[in-house]
Amino acid sequence: MQKHATVIALTGKGGVGKTSLSAAIVRQLTEQFPEARVLAIDADPAIGLSVALGVVVTETLDDIRRRVAEDVTEKLHDTQDILAEAKFRLFQAMEEQNGFAFLAIGRPEAAGCYCAVNTYLRQVISMLADEFDYVVIDGEAGIEQINRRVMEKVTHLLCVSDQSRKGLQIVETIRKVADELVLYDEIGLVINRAPLPDRITEDVCGGIPIAAVIGQDDAMTENDIAGRSIFELPPDTPILLGARRALENLHII
Ligand SMILES: Nc1ncnc2c1ncn2[C@@H]1O[C@H](COP(=O)(O)OP(=O)(O)OP(=O)(O)O)[C@@H](O)[C@H]1O
Ligand SMILES: [Mg+2]
Repeated sequence: MQKHATVIALTGKGGVGKTSLSAAIVRQLTEQFPEARVLAIDADPAIGLSVALGVVVTETLDDIRRRVAEDVTEKLHDTQDILAEAKFRLFQAMEEQNGFAFLAIGRPEAAGCYCAVNTYLRQVISMLADEFDYVVIDGEAGIEQINRRVMEKVTHLLCVSDQSRKGLQIVETIRKVADELVLYDEIGLVINRAPLPDRITEDVCGGIPIAAVIGQDDAMTENDIAGRSIFELPPDTPILLGARRALENLHII
């Protein structure tokens, strides 16, 4: 029987380090398991993971959705053909670059409505779960994609927060909703850029087990200024060590 993928999603308030940590996790997985099939998904319409990973995006999920929809009205009629076409385009779009495949949700043009592409993403996650060993999803900030069940098939939910009460409250809310709507096996909390790590205890975090605490990472800041990818960071920097610790605590490595 084929093994179902480990699907890791990163969620939390805006600006707390979800994208950076997603990229760090992708790097750790590709280094730890060079033979494994790894897929990184940028599920944030604001886009960022491609830059963090240093990959070039040619076609997004939203592009594919629109092109297949056009074909459906013009030449494709049979449901099986439509599915086959969507799958074919998807695999073309996910061409592997640095030892992992990459897919971006894209930026739907219809102002304000991400419903269609989010529904598509949910189906894509289900469909791809058997084609990959590890799927890493950099989620949109906030609770929307959890609410819309986009993250339903996630096996490992990684909540990211700064040390602020607000960030931790958002994570607590996410967990409550995820308990109903996500079929996760493991959940963990990463507190990123923590200025006062000594003050962090399990009870401030809504009962979510702490997977890692990461301090300010100056090498990351340098990388950011220069626009370099996560693969250009030295291996012993706080964000990479934190990603590794989180993966260990979630029993992935
Ligand atoms: N531990 C760290 N040390 C230094 N800089 C960091 C650290 N973690 C993240 N950053 C920087 O903080 C900024 C925000 O991080 P990032 O983009 O990963 O957050 P995000 O949660 O994905 O934000 P958004 O909600 O906007 O998508 C980036 O410039 C990133 O390089
Ligand atoms: Mg981000």
